[in-house]
Amino acid sequence: MAQSSSPGAEATAAARFAHVIGWGKAVPEKVMTNDDIAAFVETNDDWIFTRTGIRQRYIAHEAESTATLAYNAARQALEVADILPTDLDLIIVATSTAENIFPSTASQVQDWLNASEAGAFDLSAACSGFVYGLQLAADSIRAGSINAALVIGAETMSRIIDWTDRSTCILFGDGAGAVILRASDAPGGVLSSVLRSDGAGADLLAIPSVGSIDAKDSPAGANGNQFYKISMAGGEVFKFATRVVSESIEQACRLAQVKVEDIDLVIPHQANRRILQAAARKLGIDITKFMSNVEHYGNTSAASIPIALCEAIEQRRINNRDHIALVGFGGGLAWASMIIRWGVPKPSEQHGSLIKRQQRHVQYRIARLRRLRRRVARRLQSSSF
Ligand code: COA
Repeated sequence: MAQSSSPGAEATAAARFAHVIGWGKAVPEKVMTNDDIAAFVETNDDWIFTRTGIRQRYIAHEAESTATLAYNAARQALEVADILPTDLDLIIVATSTAENIFPSTASQVQDWLNASEAGAFDLSAACSGFVYGLQLAADSIRAGSINAALVIGAETMSRIIDWTDRSTCILFGDGAGAVILRASDAPGGVLSSVLRSDGAGADLLAIPSVGSIDAKDSPAGANGNQFYKISMAGGEVFKFATRVVSESIEQACRLAQVKVEDIDLVIPHQANRRILQAAARKLGIDITKFMSNVEHYGNTSAASIPIALCEAIEQRRINNRDHIALVGFGGGLAWASMIIRWGVPKPSEQHGSLIKRQQRHVQYRIARLRRLRRRVARRLQSSSF
């Protein structure tokens, strides 16, 4: 699936554009270094860093979940955007580590934010999920069906890692990143995207789980791997990733009518520094134009692109009117690229934000009280039976 907002349409009065107006990230407090991992599997910091570029990752504690990390990132994004949760029309959480098949993580976040006007659903496209979600939200905005969307990538990969498998447990980490997209008549924002999948590569990267096939008597998933644990053919995935990153960025650039050399910053899925180096070589882009923070976070799957986007903004690597390329790749196999032209006046630059901040806090408090009231009501109901 390839989409373009056709930059030529900018002249028409009715044109709507989908701009990023808010962003936020959240990671657990606990850091796990390569040396920490070397204490329980046979590996070492030098091997891990040389092969992957990773030095450390964040690991959720017991009380943290994909939903709590998503909620914290979402609150930050609402602060930056300076809009109310009730202004949101849609919440998408891209994740492979939801606590439930349903209710969705997105519905939990919707309730906690008191985003009472928003539809909410989880999206399963592994490490490409965030770009898939952003594309769906941008299209809904441009079509005029919604005005504002919250798109989150959130994961607790530590819960689906086989901690005895040194070839995978070194790679992943936990975290969440969120972005708010809003309609605007200012040209720019999401210009194009390319979404792709090759299900023939399903066995190369998978988390088998019990779904529509009744697997109660099976010891393992279809690919012979443990249920609810990640399995990966590392070498094959490496080759696939280096190929699709460059190909799909080129395709998205063509759709956006932007030259590859005019891309100011590539924000790729943070899987492995060597994959990014190989992709940069193939594209003929200097590696300094590739945002990389894999050293500090490891691979946080669907969360890695929005976390890297937040860090790029914090490091002032993104300026108004810059062309940004996002690219995700991973399980499915699935991959996705997107070109964004950055920049729209933020609402907070036009209105005083103190009142909105207080209104947001009131909404979060209302949501907490409503949850408390529901819990008490359920307890009273069950004790009366
Ligand atoms: N520490 C030390 N040695 C390790 C190790 C570890 N953590 N993991 C594997 N090894 C060993 C292997 O057992 C093997 O030993 P052998 O030669 O005696 O059999 C040797 O290192 C080489 O293993 P190999 O799997 O060929 O290493 P590699 O160079 O392909 O690197 C990955 C492995 C996982 C780092 C690499 O394949 C990779 O990054 N793939 C992409 C993974 C990815 O990004 N997935 C997510 C995409 S979304």
